[in-house]
Amino acid sequence: MTRSYRIGVIPGDGTGPEVIGEGLKVLGAVREGFEIETARYGIGGEHYLRTGDTLPDAVLDELRSLDAIYLGAIGHPDAPPGVLERGILLRIRFELDQYVNLRPVRAYPGMSLPVARVEPEEIDLVFVRENAEGLYSGAGGFHRKGTGEEVATQESINTRHGVDRCLRFAFELAREPGRRRRLTLVHKTNVLTYAGDLWARAFAEMAKAYPEVSTDYVHVDAACLYLVEDPGRFDVVVTDNLFGDILTDLGAAIQGGLGVAAGANLNPEGVSMFEPIGGTAPDHVGRETINPLAAIGALELLLRSLGEEEAGDRVDAGIRFAVSKMASMRAGEMGFTTSEVGDLVVEGATR
Ligand code: IPM
Ligand code: MN
Repeated sequence: MTRSYRIGVIPGDGTGPEVIGEGLKVLGAVREGFEIETARYGIGGEHYLRTGDTLPDAVLDELRSLDAIYLGAIGHPDAPPGVLERGILLRIRFELDQYVNLRPVRAYPGMSLPVARVEPEEIDLVFVRENAEGLYSGAGGFHRKGTGEEVATQESINTRHGVDRCLRFAFELAREPGRRRRLTLVHKTNVLTYAGDLWARAFAEMAKAYPEVSTDYVHVDAACLYLVEDPGRFDVVVTDNLFGDILTDLGAAIQGGLGVAAGANLNPEGVSMFEPIGGTAPDHVGRETINPLAAIGALELLLRSLGEEEAGDRVDAGIRFAVSKMASMRAGEMGFTTSEVGDLVVEGATR
């Protein structure tokens, strides 16, 4: 029987549809030995402004039955801050319990990088960002809102279960073939003495079960410095939700920009979602200037999570080929249009 997968496609807003279009083009070219059925969902900012609906329950229920989700970007300048983020993106992450946000940071040979002293070969790390709790839990509130005595609280929720499952994923990843068996915990234990203490204790305890993985701890501010000055010191980095959000934009910058940064929201026991991490890029909408490599990299992660390693390898070869031809990774300075970059990936993937 041929293997067959049902993939939910959410092109979303801004440049989302353009980059997802290129990803699907590449998918069509590398698919061999398995079938893909796609289901398209028109949710996003436009849909919200038209209907007032973010993520209808019926759509959420359908998403639960898929093999994977491929997402472009969610966000709209006319929607109030947080409505689409919390109502769609974070709601899918939470409801489908995608508790790991996996964000590889790797630079491809031939790329010119923003940090001049660093060679592409030195940049090969992967962030394991906790993706289901922390400051993203939504806990907190207002007191006397709008008055001069206003109080606003925003609480970081860290459960032993949530921290342990994220750490376990990171330790397992660190000892996979191709990784360097080095795991760094990033936090701010010197100030966040409750949450940080839980993370550090859980990390130290779990490390005992993985003697082959060497462990290390770095404060989040120092991690920013090292990411720029000596990224080669990192292999697998595990951290909480907000630190992971911030650090992975810096990670994207050192690997060549948001145009190449891909991420996976993983529920290893359930339905995972794959996305370029760059967002809607309003300046590039409809101009054929957005770099589709991040979305194509997300497709590679999607294929590998399905176990389709050969197709994943083909996408990787295609990306490397495209990079070798491109003038820059920066949208607008690529030397090719969005769809031409997609064509280069197809060419490199099918040679
Ligand atoms: C990301 C984004 C999201 C996040 C936003 C859009 C809610 O910045 O995927 O990194 O903070 O997780
Ligand atoms: Mn982010």
